[in-house]
Amino acid sequence: MRKLRIALTKGRLEEKTTRLLEQMGYDVSELRNKGRRLILDIPGSGLEAVLAKAADVITYVEHGVCDLGVVGKDTIMEHGGSFFEVADLGFGRCRFALAVKKGNDFYSGYAEKTVATKYPNVTRRYFAGKSMDVRVIKIEGSVELAPLLDLSDGIVDIVETGTTLRENGLEVQEEVADVSARLIVNPASLKMRKKELEPLIAAIEQAAGQP
Ligand code: PRP
Repeated sequence: MRKLRIALTKGRLEEKTTRLLEQMGYDVSELRNKGRRLILDIPGSGLEAVLAKAADVITYVEHGVCDLGVVGKDTIMEHGGSFFEVADLGFGRCRFALAVKKGNDFYSGYAEKTVATKYPNVTRRYFAGKSMDVRVIKIEGSVELAPLLDLSDGIVDIVETGTTLRENGLEVQEEVADVSARLIVNPASLKMRKKELEPLIAAIEQAAGQP
């Protein structure tokens, strides 16, 4: 049988996830010195780690080629999918927010509003929940540009420190949802490899301080 495989989100969550595995007593030297390698052994753990973009973490776990994954709730909310979300790991905390140019009120006036976002599904759902029609424009990154260029009335985006908004003359008008890193598991893996996965999930939860 192959080693259990955990898909980790590259970038913002990577260092904290590596530290979590280290706290569990694992040797994370391959993860720390990975160069451009994408599949890394975690010696002595019976685990190998795969480094992927957030949405791909979900795809690999959904298809069962990875048994576990660590991914942000933002990606889970946008992407959905068939997997179990088994733990809130407590790090990578930030929030989804509706932001506008400083001093503007997103809801003023009667004209249809335009929202730019990397998260069109989250955005549509949010405004549908308010029974409000908005035009949603998908942006791939640096969404803060859209209202500055008058492409949109506001953005729905992740706010962590608030620095990006502040330095670009934008401000939060409304909180949409809280976000943090989550542990996800493939349902078939959980059934077939329960004996290995259950203690591992418990150990991850314990190290994350959220039993
Ligand atoms: C995220 C987000 C904001 C910024 C928020 O972007 O989309 O732009 O971080 O962080 P802050 O509140 O601490 O300033 P990211 O850096 O992931 O890059 P991207 O916009 O190019 O996707």
